[in-house]
Parts: sequence; C-alpha cells; structure tokens
Amino acid sequence: MSAPVLTITAAAESSATAWHIQPTHPIALQGSVQIPGDKSISHRALMLGALATGETTIRGLLLGEDPRSTAACFRAMGAQISELNPELVTVRGLGLGLLQEPDRVLDAGNSGTTLRLMMGILASHPDRFFTVTGDDSLRSRPMGRVVAPLRQMGAQIWGRKGDTLAPLAIKGQQLKPIHYQSPIASAQVKSAVLLAGLMTEGQTTVTEPALSRDHSERMFRAFGAGVMVDPERLSATVVGPAQLRGQSVIVPGDISSAAFWLVAGAIVPDSNLLIENVGINPTRTGILDVLLEMGADITLENRREAAGEPVADLRVRSSALKACTIEGAILPRLIDEIPVLAVAAAMAQGTTIVRDAEELRVKESDRLAAIASQLNRMGARVTERPDGLEIAGGHPLNGAEVDSFTDHRIAMSLAIAALVATGTTTIHRAEAAAISYPAFADTLKTLCL
Ligand code: S3P
Repeated sequence: MSAPVLTITAAAESSATAWHIQPTHPIALQGSVQIPGDKSISHRALMLGALATGETTIRGLLLGEDPRSTAACFRAMGAQISELNPELVTVRGLGLGLLQEPDRVLDAGNSGTTLRLMMGILASHPDRFFTVTGDDSLRSRPMGRVVAPLRQMGAQIWGRKGDTLAPLAIKGQQLKPIHYQSPIASAQVKSAVLLAGLMTEGQTTVTEPALSRDHSERMFRAFGAGVMVDPERLSATVVGPAQLRGQSVIVPGDISSAAFWLVAGAIVPDSNLLIENVGINPTRTGILDVLLEMGADITLENRREAAGEPVADLRVRSSALKACTIEGAILPRLIDEIPVLAVAAAMAQGTTIVRDAEELRVKESDRLAAIASQLNRMGARVTERPDGLEIAGGHPLNGAEVDSFTDHRIAMSLAIAALVATGTTTIHRAEAAAISYPAFADTLKTLCL
C-alpha cells in the first residue's frame, strides 16, 4: 500500500502542528470540493448584524479563527450572537450607535479585518472608551492607515509608535463627515471610514487609487443604508445616520480559499476538480483572470446570485501553464492570492513578474519574503523585488523543510507546492491554516485518495 499523501504531527508542549506531505506519484486531484464561507463577508455579516435592529440570520458563515475573533469582540459589546456554525448563526443587534462599552480589552487575534473595521465602528460611538489589541502578527501591522482618516473625522485614538500600532485606545466621538482620498487601495481602510460614516450625519466618501473589494458597500445597501458608488471615480459614499435592519445573509464560498484548489487542479497532472459555490464578485476574481491568461483550463458553471453576491461552481482541469505579468489595478482583485499564484508561476514556462504588490509586506506575514524564501528552499527560482517577485518557472520542486511564518495563506500555498514536489515536504506551524480554512488538510487528504 502506498504511503498517505499527508500526515500531521503536533509538536509536544505547544499548539504547533507540522504537515508532512509526500505525494505518492502519480497523484491526480479528482472530485468536488466544498469551500468554506467567505472570510470578508463573514466578518461584515457579524458586524452589521450587531449594529442593526432586529435579527440577522447568517448561513454559510466561515468557522475560522478570524470570524470567531469578530464574534467575541461584538459579544463583549452586548450583541447576542448564537453559537457559530455554518448552518445558521443568529445575531440580535443593538441598533446603530448602541454598542455597550466593554469591560475588557477587545482582542482581534490575527485578524486585520476585525481590528480595522471595528476601529471605524468604535471611533463613532460617543461617550464610550475602548481598548483593542491582537496577536503578535497583528500588533506589528500598520494601523495608522485607519487612524489617519478617522482622526480627520474627529476621532480620538492613541496607540504605540505614534498611534500607529496596537494596542490602541479609542474614545468614541460624534464624528464629522469627510471625503477621504485613500493613498492605498484597501477595503479595510475604505470599510473603516464608511462604517464610521454610517453613524455620522452627512455624506462620508472614500476614493481609492484602484477598486478594492466592495462587500461592505453591497451589505450596507442590503441592511438598508444609503450607499452611492461612482465606479469611474473609484469612490463610495454613505449617508448617515443610517438605519440598519437585520437581514438574512447567505455567505458564498471564499474565492481566496478556492484559489488553492484552482492552482492545485491546474498544476497536478490529470486533475479534474469541481469547486462548488464560490463567490465571484468581480472585485475578487483577479485570480481567475490571471490563471486563464496563464493557460489554465477553468470553466464557470451554474452562475447564480446569493444575497447580493454573484456565485458559481468552478471546474478546473490540469493544463500546461505559461508565465505572465501581474501589475497595476488588478492587484487589489487578487491581493490574497499572490502566494498561491507564485506556486503556479513556479510550475509555468517562462518568467512571471509581480509588481505593485508592496502591500503584501504588511499582511499576516511579509508574504513576498515568506513565499520567495520557502519556495526557493524547495528548488524554485524566485527573486524578491521591493514591490514584488520575479519567478523563473519550470524548475522541478523537491521536498524540503519549510515554515508558514504563522501565516495561513503561506501554509496552504506551500502545501499545494508540495503536491508537485519530489519527496517529502514538512510545513512547520501549519496550524495557521485554521485562520481561514480549518478543513484544508482534511480536504487535501480526501482529494488525493
Ligand atoms: C480584506 C481586505 C484585504 C485583504 C484581507 C481582507 C477585507 O486587506 O487582504 O484579507 O475583508 O476587507 P486590505 O484592505 O488591507 O488590502
């Protein structure tokens, strides 16, 4: 009998887990995959549910550690959120502006979306005092990008390193509306300002240099807020004070999680995978555009709409890939998929260039440094550039000892690389995958049978 493709060992005396991946050649990925709920939409559904009057029901919520952090923070401020499960979560909100002052520090864990979006909400709750923090990774990530526009609105925020790092303290205020020209295309910055705008009298507008994901705008509208978007000027406006009413939210599968199977299906020979129920919001589908340009065989089936978001099933069959250039306005549309696209590029003919991706340096890890160094340990030829990567494809990968840097997307990208490497790859600190995809290792095992 051949050895299992994936074995998992837990390190004694710590929560660290290593994945050992040894493809018993030849493997082919066959069958259908259920994708966990979209992380961005899950956070927003919990937050808006907490801010709305009445009951919000959420179907398909991601049960990862990040949405758990959001739920814990909003429970600490009085929202009644049922036990989290993917079938049905109910949220009994307090109504806009009525969150209670928590008697403890709000801990966003590893989740930048929780912390940054929540800051917009807290800053606009007058007469309440909040302290917020996160784990080692989050406490090193830049918060000044949210502090600056909120201060322009009149917010009072203090923190480490000139008020740019968590832990942060926030004294809620009645804010004033602004038109914020964001220097970066960031949905977290845009959403923080627009969330503050919901509770602020007048029109609050954010203009971005390129369009970032628009889940907040879609969900604000569904909950009853006045939202205007100007696609040409790349701006979004909310009219406050808004009235949010509880809604029924259906969370589609996360295309950022589907991305691992899209790349795996493309690069593992003789694969044929159906990835079901994936959100295909155009602000998120850069991965599809790039993989198709590289020659991937991907088709969209059964297109439909669920609670204001477009959804489809994605079929991927293996095919030869060629290099491409990833730069400019597409970056926000595939910002979380660059690590796994680097794996695809390592298997493609020619040299793939990634530019304008400096934002990857301030994600859960420095993703440019992490993916370049770890793929190179496996025999890839990846050169790090200040704002991107240069990946000379077509060099065979070999098994190696690699590290996730405690970053969920690095752990899972390396697992996909391991499927096409010769020998055993050991991925240390692979437990990070539970941030966005707790079932990833189990799914990998079933697909490789
Ligand atoms: C997110 C926005 C993106 C993305 C993150 C989720 C969101 O971050 O990388 O995983 O839900 O708004 P930035 O806004 O920092 O680009």
